[in-house]
Amino acid sequence: MNSAEIRQKFLDFFAQRQHQIVPSAPLVVKDDPTLMFINSGMAPFKDYFLGNKPAPSKRIADTQKCLRVSGKHNDLEEVGYDTYHHTMFEMLGNWSFGDYFKKEALTWSWELLTEVYQLPKDRLYVSVFQGDDSENLPMDQEAYDIWKSMIAEGRILMGNKKDNFWEMGDTGPCGPCSEIHVDLRTEEERAQVDGKTLVNADHPQVVEIWNNVFMEFNRLADGSLVKLPAQHVDTGMGFERLCMAIQGKRSNYDTDVFQPLIQFIAKEAGVMYGENEKVDIAIRVMADHIRAIAFAISDGQLPSNNKAGYVIRRILRRAVRYSFTFLDFKKPFLYKLAAMLADQMENVFPELKAQLSFVQRVIEEEENAFLRTLENGLKRLDALEAKFKENNNTIDGKTAFELYDTFGFPLDLTALIAREKGLKVDEAGFGVEMEQQKNRSRNASAQEQSDWVIIQPDVETEFLGYEHDVADSHIVRYRQVKTKNKSEFHIVLDRTPFYAESGGQVGDTGYLISDSEQIEVLDTKKENDLILHITSKLPQNIEATFRSEVDFERRNLIRKNHSATHLLHAALRKVLGEHVQQKGSLVNEKVLRFDFSHFSKVTDEQLREVETIVNERVRQAIPLEEQRNVPIAQAKEMGAMALFGEKYGEFVRVIAFDRDHSVELCGGTHVYNTGEIGYFKILSESSVAAGVRRIEATTAGSAEEYMQQQLNELNAVREVLGTHSNISGAVQKLQEDNKALQKQLEQFELKQLTSLKESLVQKAQSIDGVNFVAEKVDVSTSDYLKKLAFDMRQALDNLVLVLAAEIDGKPQIAVMLSDNLVADRKLNASQMVRELAKEIKGGGGGQPFYATAGGKDSAGLQAVPGKAAELVKLLMNN
Ligand code: ALA
Repeated sequence: MNSAEIRQKFLDFFAQRQHQIVPSAPLVVKDDPTLMFINSGMAPFKDYFLGNKPAPSKRIADTQKCLRVSGKHNDLEEVGYDTYHHTMFEMLGNWSFGDYFKKEALTWSWELLTEVYQLPKDRLYVSVFQGDDSENLPMDQEAYDIWKSMIAEGRILMGNKKDNFWEMGDTGPCGPCSEIHVDLRTEEERAQVDGKTLVNADHPQVVEIWNNVFMEFNRLADGSLVKLPAQHVDTGMGFERLCMAIQGKRSNYDTDVFQPLIQFIAKEAGVMYGENEKVDIAIRVMADHIRAIAFAISDGQLPSNNKAGYVIRRILRRAVRYSFTFLDFKKPFLYKLAAMLADQMENVFPELKAQLSFVQRVIEEEENAFLRTLENGLKRLDALEAKFKENNNTIDGKTAFELYDTFGFPLDLTALIAREKGLKVDEAGFGVEMEQQKNRSRNASAQEQSDWVIIQPDVETEFLGYEHDVADSHIVRYRQVKTKNKSEFHIVLDRTPFYAESGGQVGDTGYLISDSEQIEVLDTKKENDLILHITSKLPQNIEATFRSEVDFERRNLIRKNHSATHLLHAALRKVLGEHVQQKGSLVNEKVLRFDFSHFSKVTDEQLREVETIVNERVRQAIPLEEQRNVPIAQAKEMGAMALFGEKYGEFVRVIAFDRDHSVELCGGTHVYNTGEIGYFKILSESSVAAGVRRIEATTAGSAEEYMQQQLNELNAVREVLGTHSNISGAVQKLQEDNKALQKQLEQFELKQLTSLKESLVQKAQSIDGVNFVAEKVDVSTSDYLKKLAFDMRQALDNLVLVLAAEIDGKPQIAVMLSDNLVADRKLNASQMVRELAKEIKGGGGGQPFYATAGGKDSAGLQAVPGKAAELVKLLMNN
């Protein structure tokens, strides 16, 4: 059975059991501060478990893209070394939201594995939660009894809290679980060691494939467990491991999920997979990591220097490091794998194929940048080699850490290079530096969040902000969040006109006003589906009725900028082409910022054209067409532009300004009519990442102000020029006049230099047979001083020349010697100039025949000629 069939059979099995099949959510989590990436199939459904929101269907199944590279579940360092951990993997899952429970879940999982996939029963083990006294949790007798009716009792194992009580993160939904493990060893191996003893023992051929979690609790920030309002089922089966089991392989990497990538990498590297462990690890790292990188980018997460973007950058760098070190890929290569992956996944995750050239471009550029960094790091190591040799042949901890921190060299790479050079690394010293940095960032980001205080349970907030900017509200829950520098409160209301930051639009600000007090709302943010009003204090009377009032002026400016962003998006696609896709946006009360895929600079002419189109749409005063709860398929039929990496529900909101022009899926607030935008002006165009351009623009009053400023500046120039027509002609003429004057000045100075030279030649004195000239002269640049010295060398033989001058307010000295004096009389201009420079409190140097010095004390110049004469006499007598 190939992997595509295995996946399809799972989905079909649960569709036949009334499960709604949904698409995978994007990998990157946007509205949950406790989670950066989707780390399990259940993560997109967190709100349904917690009862924050009703599930669209009581039974759901899917295959979900997951990443376990940060936070509670982090497998990154194992990837490549073993055969069954991955950065990105697919989790097949089925869910019951308050519907079926243990009996159905376990029976179905057994039926699917043994009857549909035909896995032999005598290779399967199951585990059941044994209970935990410290938290007063009982053994899961019910699960045990269900299993007993299907599987030999000797194959049911008891598991502790670590293995059999599943938790999503430090907080959140959790519950006892029952795992299914498969033993893939040969008959011979199985005869030697009882498989039971290898369950949960990190054996590569005895692995967990499916976990059935019975969600009953919520873990709170204070560590306590509270019962959830209903009982749910959350299951997760590792797709790649399942393929290994069904296809009878000993490694996930030997299945058809990875083999095409692996064979391609091996061929391009000119090696065979399976012959050398280090090479194999590097190949597995690449085959694995490209999946995480390509899908994260196609889900909208560009590599960057912070948060989720940094995690992706680190994964990419890990892949480059292994391929650079063990496969000798010295040029970008990873990006070439994306095309193969896109074809392979097209039917399950079409988002990669749809943006392939963009994704490749981003990866290639990242690879290039990191390869340059690697080269620089290697150079740094070379430069310090002598120092390491003196340091007992050891690279000190500080340098090893600098290489890690600045150049992205992990310790193992530094150790490898060190070995090649016959050096060691001070690993303990590295550890100390690392720990210090961790402490620094821990202190900077430490935050303490209290649990929610629930005032009214089970209330879903009604959002009124599309129609209203004022509403009567009550507080339904609140909590306090403390960081090192501040303390704030998150308040959730039953009804609110406040728009929470999302889709690039900033959150509203305003007030919560009761009869007795007024609390300022500093910002509004989303956490999953909760709307958090951020305040610096709590009302005295929590249960009062509040008039919640959005800062209307500000909201109004934001609306204009948001609608203008839609018009800009449409105009860009018209002028530059349909490849333009939104890659990010920021809309606030001052500006709008729009990032989009495009491979070259947008020319001034194109920018003007875009501006003209948008302003035409503004003048046409096109009315807003807003439709809520449109089925997503219908919205797409209308031509609505959806964003990759955005999580859309079954029903969406569609915003159109003339259906033939701009139709987008959008949750933001908009003008009722494009005329309100008033005027649209682009402020700048720039590059933000490989293949991504950024336009900043502004509208309405701010655009007018900007134009006014530009005009004011122009008027000031007019005043200075004293002309009101043909300004650029006048400026051009000024520049030409300036050039001509400069030329004249140069010629004049050269003439002066010639007569200066002649007078200096006259002044030459003979000291011990040399022609000695030392003078303080008047020249305007260092170049002229140099020219004068070289002209003198032409004019006089046997010359010792010392020139002193003040140039741009600073003292300078030049010493010039004829070659014969350097060769025969052993005079040295550098030494002489250094001696003379003492007079001007300075220093310098150069060549034996010509040297210069600069200093701080111009008053000392006067004494230089006399000092030079003494010096020459002294040197000649030696
Ligand atoms: N959420 C469970 C897991 O990830 C199924 O293992």
